[in-house]
Amino acid sequence: MTTTRLLSATAVAEAAALLRGGALVAFPTETVYGLGADATNGRAVAAVFAAKGRPRFNPLICHYAEAEAAFADAAPDERARALAERFWPGPLTMVLPRRPESRVDLLTGAGLDSLAVRVPAHPLALALLRAAGVPVAAPSANPSGAVSPTTAAHVLEGLGGRIAAVLDGGACPVGVESTVLDLTGARPALLRPGGVPAEAVEALLGPLDRATAPGGEAPRGPGMLASHYAPALPLRLGATAAEADEALLGFGPVPTGTTLAWNLSETRDLAEAASRLFAGLRWLDTEGARLGLRGIAAMAVPEAGLGAAVNDRLARAAAPRR
Ligand code: TXA
Ligand code: MG
Repeated sequence: MTTTRLLSATAVAEAAALLRGGALVAFPTETVYGLGADATNGRAVAAVFAAKGRPRFNPLICHYAEAEAAFADAAPDERARALAERFWPGPLTMVLPRRPESRVDLLTGAGLDSLAVRVPAHPLALALLRAAGVPVAAPSANPSGAVSPTTAAHVLEGLGGRIAAVLDGGACPVGVESTVLDLTGARPALLRPGGVPAEAVEALLGPLDRATAPGGEAPRGPGMLASHYAPALPLRLGATAAEADEALLGFGPVPTGTTLAWNLSETRDLAEAASRLFAGLRWLDTEGARLGLRGIAAMAVPEAGLGAAVNDRLARAAAPRR
């Protein structure tokens, strides 16, 4: 027997009405929770930047229920159409030339002549986008620089009292943000590794230009600031074990005698590791502080597939704070 997953139609309709009225509504996607606003409403978009404490030069991604709606605001070439065919709905964001006739407010794209668009693969997100009937600008639903939210409770911890509503869809299955790909140049460039492995994109498009590593040269994406996803406790990378006064973010078998451990994946499964990353950082941060620990030691994760996204987030979480 196939069990049908029922969604609350009234919750979706209410959330859509709030969005259309210019309010901010957080909603689940397959990657992380997004903080949604009507992308055509400049005041609503400005409120997103204010609620997150996000610098205005850092543009937002526009979310759509269908590729054709996305391509009405951002002009696709053949590469973009092939990627949409293969990966949408899904955790891939494409940066494309913004169509001059687009109704998306200029603030959404931070005044750039490009626009980042994506069609998320989450039933509640798609239902909300359809009901809202407008492009929805949505950064991750966390205060700027903090760990991204993968549950409604995480959203409320960071933004409770500052947004109209959160649509609760449980835990996000992918757990790291979308892959951001810049297609405005002759060569496609990877601005952020994410839910679609770069290898899968390269299988379709050939080699990608890679954005600079955290702490490297000037960031290529306007939002690629070095320090991000940061827990309060300092993070030490490439550990094989935790010191007595450290918590451990484990991958694979965890050494016995560890004071406090969160295992990303006992079996070294990279998709499982990605899905457990942000919840683990939050939990180790809270519990570690409660136990008086002085930091978090993270075991090494292979760079392949979703491991690249996990390592990117860990490197930023460990980077010197702004
Ligand atoms: O998975 C995701 O992408 C989530 C969910 C909610 O969809 N959203 C998300 O948004 O991670 P945010 O704002 O946290 O990250 C968007 C990234 C930023 O690094 C931003 O700089 C980049 O995409 N971006 C957006 N528009 C851009 C543009 N026109 N050119 C270059 N980079 C852009
Ligand atoms: Mg974010």
